[in-house]
Amino acid sequence: MTSQIKPYSKTDIRTFINTPLAIGNREIPTRLILAPMSGLTHVAFRELVDRYGGCGLLATEMCSAKALPIENRHVSTVFRWRDAEASLLNCQILGSDPDIMVHAARRVEAEGFFGVDLNFGCSVAPICKKNCGAALLRTPDLAVQIVRDIRQAVAIPVTVKFRTGWEDAVAPAADLARRFEDAGADALTFHPRVAPDRRSRPPKWEYIRMIKQAVSIPVFGNGEVFTLDDCEKMFETTGCDGIALGRIAVAKPWVFAQWTGALQPDSNIYRESLLQMMELLASHFSPPTDIRKFKKLALYSAALFQFGHAFFTRMFRAQNFPEMADVIHAFFDASPEPTSRPNLNLFR
Ligand SMILES: Cc1cc2nc3c(=O)[nH]c(=O)nc-3n(C[C@H](O)[C@H](O)[C@H](O)COP(=O)(O)O)c2cc1C
Repeated sequence: MTSQIKPYSKTDIRTFINTPLAIGNREIPTRLILAPMSGLTHVAFRELVDRYGGCGLLATEMCSAKALPIENRHVSTVFRWRDAEASLLNCQILGSDPDIMVHAARRVEAEGFFGVDLNFGCSVAPICKKNCGAALLRTPDLAVQIVRDIRQAVAIPVTVKFRTGWEDAVAPAADLARRFEDAGADALTFHPRVAPDRRSRPPKWEYIRMIKQAVSIPVFGNGEVFTLDDCEKMFETTGCDGIALGRIAVAKPWVFAQWTGALQPDSNIYRESLLQMMELLASHFSPPTDIRKFKKLALYSAALFQFGHAFFTRMFRAQNFPEMADVIHAFFDASPEPTSRPNLNLFR
């Protein structure tokens, strides 16, 4: 099967990024979407991304399908959102029991989210032990059944995020992609790494091309897109329809606005963005959760600068937001040198 969607063809990269894309019965305004990240893509972070703009589709953190039907959105730290973002927010669910996954997907639909995203990629041991996340790639029939059952239960877009699998071969992943499409998936996000490789080796972008060629639904490429040049190269070499940005979006919540051309940031944006993040975390969470979450995000900002590790260490030692604000001002008053690519020792 070949794709009917027009791929990137060496035109203006910004025009392509700004071309809307249909996903199932809905449409997203740009080709750059947020990759779901546990502990990072919470409601406060997403509000900051939204303030800058340009993101085609937001993502929640992974939410346990078992817990989701009874979650209280005002108490849960992961299943919490602003009404204003729901229509462009994909809720990622994690689980392995088709009935439980269906139950969760129904709640996601009832709450008015854009769509439901199935996590078939997380490879951390406690998740895989429960046969969830990437473990489902070892039981493809069950993974496909989950997609099919959810497809039959909800009308909103159903998307799947998955990775290469447990061996370094793209053919089984391409076969699975086809089966996800046949089961009713509306789009795929593919992270071309084997499990349990947790970002230690470079992703194999050439595998994204094989996934794209296997299906006719939109495919989002994912993995180490850190600059607009990376972005163009991924579109060019893989033919993917969109790109899911992970860690670079955490480090630069304005990256969607910048790459779509809506914003031309100056060097003040690093400081301003961190200060805004602090304010938003304080408005959505209470201490010490807000402080803990800020430290987690700040690690990725630190990865953008020479001597960023020293900045992060000072930040880590700070006890409260006023102390952290002092660390931020001291660091940026000294005009730190940005690195050309993020420091991967910090960008974990
Ligand atoms: C801290 C962290 C948490 C993550 N949590 C999730 C998750 O909950 N669900 C998921 O599908 N992927 C998760 N991922 C993987 C990312 O979505 C993405 O596939 C990965 O970071 C590669 O993209 P990047 O190079 O643009 O960061 C996580 C990644 C990081 C760094």
